[in-house]
Amino acid sequence: MSFPEAETPPVLREQAIALQDEEWPPGADSAPGHDPMLRPTSMLLVDDDGCVVASLDVLSKPVVHAGRHYCASGLSAVVTRRDRRGLGHGRRLVLAATEAIAESDADVGLFTCDRSLQAFYASTGWEVLPGAVIVGGTPSAPFPSDGPGFDKVTMARFFSAHAQRHRDEFANSRIELYPGEIDRLW
Ligand SMILES: CC(C)(COP(=O)(O)OP(=O)(O)OC[C@H]1O[C@@H](n2cnc3c(N)ncnc32)[C@H](O)[C@@H]1OP(=O)(O)O)[C@@H](O)C(=O)NCCC(=O)NCCS
Repeated sequence: MSFPEAETPPVLREQAIALQDEEWPPGADSAPGHDPMLRPTSMLLVDDDGCVVASLDVLSKPVVHAGRHYCASGLSAVVTRRDRRGLGHGRRLVLAATEAIAESDADVGLFTCDRSLQAFYASTGWEVLPGAVIVGGTPSAPFPSDGPGFDKVTMARFFSAHAQRHRDEFANSRIELYPGEIDRLW
């Protein structure tokens, strides 16, 4: 199921937030939810009993890279219920999200993940951008994916002809995504 984040039925939204909070405990002053400027879409895998088995959010924004303009989307907060992992639910949801992004106005898909999850995302068609760093945060308070303590890789998909033509400009580069203060590295 897929909803603009703000329109997700509360009974499903509460479950998705509980899954996320279990994995990424929220700070004392942080409110659930993404920056509305990033057009958050929640995608949920729901079983026949109405139980949210896995969830993720698709975030989108314009980005300028090497002087060219792109619409970028990425995956955020991908999580499967702890007692239902290893059964293919995560892969199924990521595949559905990737298909949805491919059918949207996105030129390029971009996000970072821990290196250990590279094979999981690669199995759904995302590719590692060697040497690429996503610069999150804001121009005045950047939050790069190669910051201290991180061991992250940048995953990408090139959807539009425009992005495919210039795909070589993304590897070994710093991609100034700047999603803001709320979703610093979506
Ligand atoms: C990552 C995650 C969403 C996968 O969900 P899932 O429903 O278990 O995924 P699937 O069953 O479709 O696929 C699992 C595959 O991912 C691999 N995988 C899952 N977590 C992994 C990890 N932390 N390190 C390495 N591999 C991992 C499994 O080994 C498995 O690979 P296989 O099919 O070759 O055996 C789930 O493990 C999770 O919620 N993790 C905690 C949150 C998280 O780290 N999210 C990613 C944020 S970028």
